[in-house]
Amino acid sequence: MIGIFDSGVGGFAALSKLRELRPRVDVAYLADRKNAPYGTKSISELERLVLRDIDILRAMGAEKILAACCTACSVIDRLDTTLTKGVTTIIKPAARAAVKKTENGKIAVICTDATAKSQAFESELKRLMPDIEVKTKPSARLVELAECGARDSRLDKSELDIIRSELSPLLDFGADTVILGCTHFSLLKHSISGCLNADFVSAADEGASLLAASLK
Ligand code: DGL
Repeated sequence: MIGIFDSGVGGFAALSKLRELRPRVDVAYLADRKNAPYGTKSISELERLVLRDIDILRAMGAEKILAACCTACSVIDRLDTTLTKGVTTIIKPAARAAVKKTENGKIAVICTDATAKSQAFESELKRLMPDIEVKTKPSARLVELAECGARDSRLDKSELDIIRSELSPLLDFGADTVILGCTHFSLLKHSISGCLNADFVSAADEGASLLAASLK
């Protein structure tokens, strides 16, 4: 059985990608709504929550776990690897995909405040491509929007206005590639991509694909 966790609905984006690639896989999904949002938590709180999420899923019988939350992944790489064995994280595969895609060397990352503060995407992107330019835009409002039920298929005008205004700081940067560096944003992918003229990389999709590839 595969365990997937997130603070809330964001991991559904990864779940649907995993189901597309491995329709028969047995999944337990953990949404830690009691402690959501993760994006405003401190590093130590996040470490505690992530280890607890992993423990819960292991206790349910998960042999492999997908951390379908970039905020969680921003601390997982700091933890002792013996505690996180069997956990697939999603920041590194998303960074790899973005570096492959970019032609002008400018990548924008939309994520939570905690992920932005951790600089996990920047460090990985710069490790892979040292002369890359990265601009990060955290948005707690977009997390809230998705958590409250906003979806591409049923957005109203005021929700679209929020998306436009949250993304406006990225308009002049000229990134040709944008990383949806919070899984909640993959649920709004079409609306977000309508606001920015770029190619998109979904951390949820990249993580799910990596996990799917590891399954028989
Ligand atoms: N979906 C999560 C992420 O990928 C975080 C959302 C939140 O709880 O702030 O970062």
